[in-house]
Amino acid sequence: MTDLDRLNQVLQDQPYIEGFAQPSSVDFSTRSAVKEKDLKGREHLERWFHHLSSFEMTADTVSRSTDNFPQQILDLLASSTEFNSIELAQQWKVDHQKLIGAIKSLLANEGVLATKDVTEKRLELTNEGVQFANEGSPEFLVFQFVGTEGAAQADIMKQPFGKIGMAKAMQAKWVAVDKGTVVRKSTDVVDSTRKYLESLRLGEDVDENQKKELKKRKLISEVNIKGLLVSKGESFTTNLAKQEADLTPEMIASGSWKNKQFKKYNFESLGVVPSSGHLHPLMKVRSEFRQIFFSMGFSEMATNRYVESSFWNFDALFQPQQHPARDAHDTFFVSDPAISTKFPEDYLERVKTVHSKGGYGSAGYNYDWKIEEAQKNVLRTHTTAVSARQLYQLAQEGFRPSKLFSIDRVFRNETLDATHLAEFHQVEGVIAEKNLSLAHLIGVFTEFFKKLGITNLRFKPTYNPYTEPSMEIFAYHQGLAKWVEIGNSGMFRPEMLLPMGLPADVNVAGYGLSLERPTMIKYGINNIRDLFGSKIDLDVVYNTPICRLDK
Ligand code: PHE
Repeated sequence: MTDLDRLNQVLQDQPYIEGFAQPSSVDFSTRSAVKEKDLKGREHLERWFHHLSSFEMTADTVSRSTDNFPQQILDLLASSTEFNSIELAQQWKVDHQKLIGAIKSLLANEGVLATKDVTEKRLELTNEGVQFANEGSPEFLVFQFVGTEGAAQADIMKQPFGKIGMAKAMQAKWVAVDKGTVVRKSTDVVDSTRKYLESLRLGEDVDENQKKELKKRKLISEVNIKGLLVSKGESFTTNLAKQEADLTPEMIASGSWKNKQFKKYNFESLGVVPSSGHLHPLMKVRSEFRQIFFSMGFSEMATNRYVESSFWNFDALFQPQQHPARDAHDTFFVSDPAISTKFPEDYLERVKTVHSKGGYGSAGYNYDWKIEEAQKNVLRTHTTAVSARQLYQLAQEGFRPSKLFSIDRVFRNETLDATHLAEFHQVEGVIAEKNLSLAHLIGVFTEFFKKLGITNLRFKPTYNPYTEPSMEIFAYHQGLAKWVEIGNSGMFRPEMLLPMGLPADVNVAGYGLSLERPTMIKYGINNIRDLFGSKIDLDVVYNTPICRLDK
C-alpha cells in the first residue's frame, strides 16, 4: 500500500461537508505534494483535494488566520534581523492591532524581543471616501442618472448626490445643461475618483496629484499609525518555555520551581468583576411590603412550613370539613407523608366541639367532626394557617397586644391562566388587641395602602368561614379606569379565637392580599407566567429596577 492509498483511507472518515472547520496548514502542505494524476482511483483523496481548492486562501494565510502569531513572529525573526509591524501586517494581510497584541504577549517573556516605537503616515479613506469607493463618485452617479435620454436638472438636485455630482460632472465636461435639462457630453467616462479610492484602500500607491485632489475633497486624510520595530532581544529564542502564572505549594515541595519561568505579575490589571445575583421582582416588592409592616410596628411570623395539616389550615379556622375549599379540586393534598398526628390534644378537643356542637354562644355546624379529615396533610392554601398557629401560641404564652405579618408562598389547585398559577405569594397582616373594631381595621388599611401609593379605597361585605364581618378591599386602578379587588379581610370569629384560649375581650383583625398583583401592576407585567415559573425571561429579572419613581 502506498502512502497515497493510506491517506485516501484516512480521508474516508473525514466528512468534508459544509460547516467543516477550517483546513489546517498541514492540509495545504500535504496537498501541494499531491499531483492531479494521483487522484485517479482514490476518491476520498480526490474529494479532499477539491474541497481544499474551494478555499481561496493559500496555506500561508490559513495558518496566519489561526492564533499562533507569537510563534510565527519568532520564526520570522530567527531568519531575519528586524521587521516593522505596520509593514508586516500589510504583507501578511492581517489586522495590525492583532499583530501588536501578539508582539505584546511575547514581551511578557523578558529579553526575547527588543522593540522600538515607530510612527508612519498613512492615507486613510474618510467616511465619505469609503462611501464613494463603495457606491461610486457623485459625478459618476449623475452621469448614470442622466443616461442617454437626459434628465431634468430639478430631478437631479433632489438626489443625495445631486449637488456635488452636478458641479463635478460639469467641471469634467461629462454633462451640460440645456434649458433645465441635463444631457451627456461624453459617451464613455471612467469613474477614476472611485478607482483611486479603491486603490488607496488596498494600500496601493497612486499619483501624487490624485492624492492632492482627493485630500482637497476630504475623501482621504493622513493619519499617523503607531507601530513597532521589532528585533531579537538578548535572550531571543524560538522555543518559549511555558511560563507559570502561579507558584504552587507542589512546586515548593518538589523544588521544581527552580527550573521554571514565572510570568511577571501585572499589578495594573483590573480584577475580575464578581458575578452577582439579582433579586426577582417579587422579592423587591416583598421587601417594600416588609418595610411598610415594620414601619407600622408589625413583626414577622415564621412561614417555613409549606406542608401543613388540614387541622391548622382549615379546622382551626372554623372551616367546616365539608367546605368546598377542602376538596381536591381546590387544594393539593400530600400523599407522603399523608397525615399529621401531633396536635395539642385539649385544643383539638375544643375545635372538634365548636365544629360539631358549638359553644361560646355559637351553635356550631352540627356535624360529625372527624380527626381523619383534620390529619390530612395539604400544601397550605393560605398564610392564615401561619396566623392560626401564631395566635394559638400567643394564647399559650399569655396574651399581649400584637401586630404580626407574613409574606410567603401558598398553593391552590387552580386552572392556570394569564392571571392564575397553582402557587402564589400572600401578604398577610394580623392585629390582636382588646376591643378592636372594624373602624380600626379600616384605619390600618388606609395607612398601609397609603404607604404603597394607593389612596382611594372601598370596602365590600363578603364571606369567609373564619371572619365576621368580612370585607373585600377595592382600589381604584387609574390605568384600567375601574375598581379592582386588592385584598380580603375581616375580624376573626370567636369560634376560632376562643378555643385557642384567647381572652374574650380580645379581637383579632386580619387581611390578606397577593404579592403578585401589585408587582405586576408596578412593573407593568401582564402575564403572570412572565413573572413567575419556568418560562420567565431572566432579563426581566436582571433589569427590573429596585428603585421606581412611582410614589
Ligand atoms: N386568607 C384569606 C385569603 O386567602 C385572606 C384573609 C386573611 C382574610 C386574614 C381575612 C383575614 O384570601
